[in-house]
Amino acid sequence: MTIKVGMIGAGAIADDHCSTINRYSGAAMVAVAEINPERRDALKKKYSIPKAYERWQDLVADPDLDAVVIALPNMLHAPVSLAAIRAGKHVLLDKPFALNYAEARRVVDTARRSRKVLMLGMNQRYLKDQQILKALVERGELGEIYHAKAYWYRRMGAPKFGTWFVNKKLSGGGCMLDIGVHNLDLVLYLIDNWDPVSVSGKVYGKFGHRGIGEGGWGKSDRNAKLKFDVEDFATALIKFKNEATLDLNISWVIHQEQAVRNNVELYGTEAGASLVPLKLFRPAKRAGEYEVVVPQNVKVPRLRENRQFNWLDAILGKDKPLCSMEQSLVVQRILDAIYASSAGGREVRFR
Ligand SMILES: NC(=O)c1ccc[n+]([C@@H]2O[C@H](COP(=O)([O-])OP(=O)(O)OC[C@H]3O[C@@H](n4cnc5c(N)ncnc54)[C@H](O)[C@@H]3O)[C@@H](O)[C@H]2O)c1
Repeated sequence: MTIKVGMIGAGAIADDHCSTINRYSGAAMVAVAEINPERRDALKKKYSIPKAYERWQDLVADPDLDAVVIALPNMLHAPVSLAAIRAGKHVLLDKPFALNYAEARRVVDTARRSRKVLMLGMNQRYLKDQQILKALVERGELGEIYHAKAYWYRRMGAPKFGTWFVNKKLSGGGCMLDIGVHNLDLVLYLIDNWDPVSVSGKVYGKFGHRGIGEGGWGKSDRNAKLKFDVEDFATALIKFKNEATLDLNISWVIHQEQAVRNNVELYGTEAGASLVPLKLFRPAKRAGEYEVVVPQNVKVPRLRENRQFNWLDAILGKDKPLCSMEQSLVVQRILDAIYASSAGGREVRFR
């Protein structure tokens, strides 16, 4: 069987989806939907996609398609996912899930009633070092993980100004929702802790609204009317039921020495770990000595290549989604709480 896939949105990330899906032996890209005619035609030509639509509604209604990949502005994530699931399609939705938890919840409730695979495209879970670290954590090498630190500081890395990314109504949020979602999802996955009890967060908009910090990414067209009204720095402390804590810091724009600093650090009772580059920190077997280890030849039970292959394997019943809908809901709930905590000037408690 060949899974026939439609691509919705032909912006910056669409290439990655089309090229990867066309490499999978049991799938083919057969349609694209995109409002911008140049980007639509370019993607159609580059990947020899037979059908092209201007309206996503027409692609979703195409009975020939089994599955869709959604890589659209965030305000369209929930409505298009809902329509696609209702039309009987499997959905790979690029992050973040939605503008907020309520929207995401509706999508999950609808997906649960279908027999379709809905998966968020959390690509960082699939990187090799991430999978090795996950295997080390599962083997108990770190002991009890009681604290994690995750950060992604971009110095001048805001998206193209005047696009949907920088407008709260269309994006749902700035750097925390856009790239913080990766670090947050990754830490929860690595430590396998889906039970947050409280969130204390603060978001700042110090640069974008002054026209400072554009990194220029994203292919959508500029619209001078779209004001930059999202955060360009965000910080949060997340506490879990087992008393573990996560310190999360994210920027699109910040004054610092390096252009980018991005890492996940885990602190356990037996060892600490740093992801970028991957290292373990622990007492050596020889008494009194301490070692820094670059893990070698770690067996990963099932090494997955990328999010698209995992999703397609799941559609064919050969694997399960690495990223479950329930996990993605927890991530979205924490993101909502960071914004609510910042707006209300208080800690948000989940129960
Ligand atoms: N997993 C990752 O690492 C990753 C990386 C980049 C982007 N993303 C996510 O993917 C999504 C898209 O990001 P991008 O960088 O490709 O954005 P982009 O702005 O470059 O592309 C969005 C595309 O959607 C099109 N579009 C807008 N409204 C439409 C409509 N009604 N019908 C059809 N097409 C429409 C735009 O014309 C544009 O071409 C975002 O949610 C983003 O967060 C994920």
